[in-house]
Amino acid sequence: MATIEHVAATASPNEIIEHLQKDGAVIVDKVLPVDDVARLNSELSPFLTQNAFGRDAFTGFKTQRIGALVARSEACADLALNAMMLTCARQYLSDYCDDIQLHFTSAVAIAPGESAQILHRDRGIWGGYLPRKVEPLFSTIWATTPFTRANGATQVVPGSQYWDKDRQPEPHEIAYAEMEPGSVLCYTGTVLHGGGANSTPDQVRTGVFMHYALSWLRQEENQYLSCPPEHARRLSPELRALIGYAKGGYVLGFYSDPDDPSAAYESVSPEHLFSQREERFGAIHGADHVVSESMK
Ligand SMILES: [Fe+2]
Repeated sequence: MATIEHVAATASPNEIIEHLQKDGAVIVDKVLPVDDVARLNSELSPFLTQNAFGRDAFTGFKTQRIGALVARSEACADLALNAMMLTCARQYLSDYCDDIQLHFTSAVAIAPGESAQILHRDRGIWGGYLPRKVEPLFSTIWATTPFTRANGATQVVPGSQYWDKDRQPEPHEIAYAEMEPGSVLCYTGTVLHGGGANSTPDQVRTGVFMHYALSWLRQEENQYLSCPPEHARRLSPELRALIGYAKGGYVLGFYSDPDDPSAAYESVSPEHLFSQREERFGAIHGADHVVSESMK
C-alpha cells in the first residue's frame, strides 16, 4: 500500500522539498498549536452553511466549500502567511518564477456519505497548455479536524507527477493523507490527488486549502482594479469577459462574495457579480428613482 511520508514540524525546507520532489507530497506533523486550530474552526464555522455544498460530482454534493478566506477570516489570513510554507513554496518553485502569489483559498468540509473525488492534477485548470517541465503550484491542506481514511483523508498517488498523463493508478498505489489537526499536507500541482470518501456515520473532515502559484500567471494590467465592478457593470458581457470578468475553463477566475453570509454566491463565475449587484442594490436604485421623480 502506498504511503505519504511524514516529517516533524522542525523539518528543514530542504527536507520537505526532497519529499516533494520524490513523491509529489509530504505531511508536516503538528505545525499549528491547538489554539490556532480552534481559532480557525471558530472563524470558519459561520460560513460552512447549507448553501455551501458543491454543485456537481467534482465539487461533491456532500462537501461544503468556502472561499474568500483572506477576507473572511483573520486566522486564515495568518495561515496564508505561515513562514515555513512560504519558504518552502518559494524555494520549491524558484526554478520557474521570481516569486509566488496566493492562488486559491478554500475551507473544505467533507460530510458523511460523500464519495471519493475523481483523481486529478491541479495543473489541469490551465487546460494542459503549461509544459510539464514547468511546475506551477505548491499547495497546502491544513487539517482542522482529524484526517482519517474513513472520514475522507485526501487521496494522493505518490510519484504520479512523473507518470504519463493517461496512466491511472491501481488501488494499492493510492495513499491517504491521514493526519492530526494542525498538520499540513504539502503537494504539487502535478501529483494525482483527490478528496477522499467519507464512510463514517457522523464525522465531518475539514481542511483549509492554501495554494501558491507562480507570480507570473496573471494579466499585466490588473483589470479588476483598472476597471473595477462599478465600471465594468456598464460594459457589454463580451467586453467584461475579455477583461477577465468570466470564468476560464472549468474553474479559473471564480470568486466568492466575502460579505454574503448566506453563501449563495460561493465559488461562482464573475458573471454572477453583475446580476448579484442588481439584485442587492435594486432597492437602492428604486429609492433613487423615487427621489428623482419627487424632484421634478
Ligand atoms: Fe485538486
